Amino acid sequence: MDKNFIWGAGTSAYQIEGAFNEDGRSPSIWDTFSHTPGKIERKHTGDVACDHYHRYKEDVKLLAELGVKAYRFSISWSRILPNGIGEINEKGLAFYDHLLDELSQYHIEPFVTLYHWDLPQILFEKGGWLNPQIPSWFEYYVDVVTKHFGKRVRNYITINEPQIVVQVGMHSLEHAPGIIYSTRECLQASHHILLAHGLAVRKIRKNVPDALIGFAPCSDSVVPLHNDPASVEEARKLFFQLRKDNFHVVTLFSDPVFLGDYPKEYYEMYKDVLPKMGKDDLKIISTPIDYCYQNVYTGAYCDVDASGKGYIKDFPVGSPQSNIVWEDVVPETNYWTPKFLYERYHKPIFIGENGMCCHDAVSKDGKVHDPNRVDFMDRYLTELKKVQKDGIPVVGYFAWSLLDNFEWAWGYTKRFGIVYVDFTTQKRIQKDSYYFYRETIKNQGENLR
Ligand code: BG6
Repeated sequence: MDKNFIWGAGTSAYQIEGAFNEDGRSPSIWDTFSHTPGKIERKHTGDVACDHYHRYKEDVKLLAELGVKAYRFSISWSRILPNGIGEINEKGLAFYDHLLDELSQYHIEPFVTLYHWDLPQILFEKGGWLNPQIPSWFEYYVDVVTKHFGKRVRNYITINEPQIVVQVGMHSLEHAPGIIYSTRECLQASHHILLAHGLAVRKIRKNVPDALIGFAPCSDSVVPLHNDPASVEEARKLFFQLRKDNFHVVTLFSDPVFLGDYPKEYYEMYKDVLPKMGKDDLKIISTPIDYCYQNVYTGAYCDVDASGKGYIKDFPVGSPQSNIVWEDVVPETNYWTPKFLYERYHKPIFIGENGMCCHDAVSKDGKVHDPNRVDFMDRYLTELKKVQKDGIPVVGYFAWSLLDNFEWAWGYTKRFGIVYVDFTTQKRIQKDSYYFYRETIKNQGENLR
């Protein structure tokens, strides 16, 4: 990787912090959801999670020993503003100040995500993402945070995976708030999320003039099975194609942000249920940002039929899979996803999240051996190195995740960490993948081939 490449690791507030009712924090929709019987595997909650709120020093040390230049973490909105808006909770800000102090001691650059799914419950009760006022509530929160941190934080990511907020949170029962909304409502919520993003960008620019800003979408990535121009074009088409009632599509969010409008087909496809839009909305939404932080996990292979038309090919029986249903191992996705995105949006790319869920356990020797994750990282990073060599400006990579954590509806039954967490004792054990990543960072990726 080139010498300026930014190696990082990521986490999110609700997944690791715990201290759910300490120091003035109010509940988020994930507290309510995880406390509702039947919603989370084995009744797990994020009440304690990795207890990072009390153990952040130990966790920052793990980052330092790993050798990363960057740490991506998110802020809990309801820790800062227990009423969602209005009164500021100084103790909430103080926690993040301490975390920043610790990071700066080790010269680790903070990359702050402003929203990683934990909407204050009190705002949900006022309509949440469906309330037309929510973009301005978010703007207020972002104003408070960015004014407070000032020059201490330069890198901001506004919203993590708007696709999942809508598709899994509002169009399925799997994530909080656990209500299925109509297509019209999902489109309206998506529009409000985009508007919240745009207003946030303007606020950050005002408060931190030299800030570097991005947002972190995900996508249904499609990769060509054969590397010939016709196959690549077919894969690209499928990658960006809008699909009715599917809010996971990348263009639904990234087109308005980077190109200033929804895809053309959007207006036809949803003509009866279009969201209410103000006349300047798209201008606000497309306020220029610096980076695309794309979260990349899996992909689908596109083959072409006899007539030259692309189609998604089923995975061969027994092909490599992770320990979580949706994640097949498709290393080429780390080549084609940044390439397709850069060619459409012309923004430098960070891989905002990438990692593998494995069945990890402590071995007799007291260590955690995770050969599948090591192999995953090796293969995915090799593809990333290849795409960078081919001229796509991939500027950084965040391993997901630093720690095993509260994996949303899966509770603690799924592990994504490069550091193992014993959730009974809170002991951390670096897995083999942690050491592999450390070596890779040290060698600037020269070990990848
Ligand atoms: C991303 C999220 O979608 O994937 C993370 O941003 C999450 O918060 C990760 O932990 C793992 O997947 P899942 O299945 O829990 O969404």
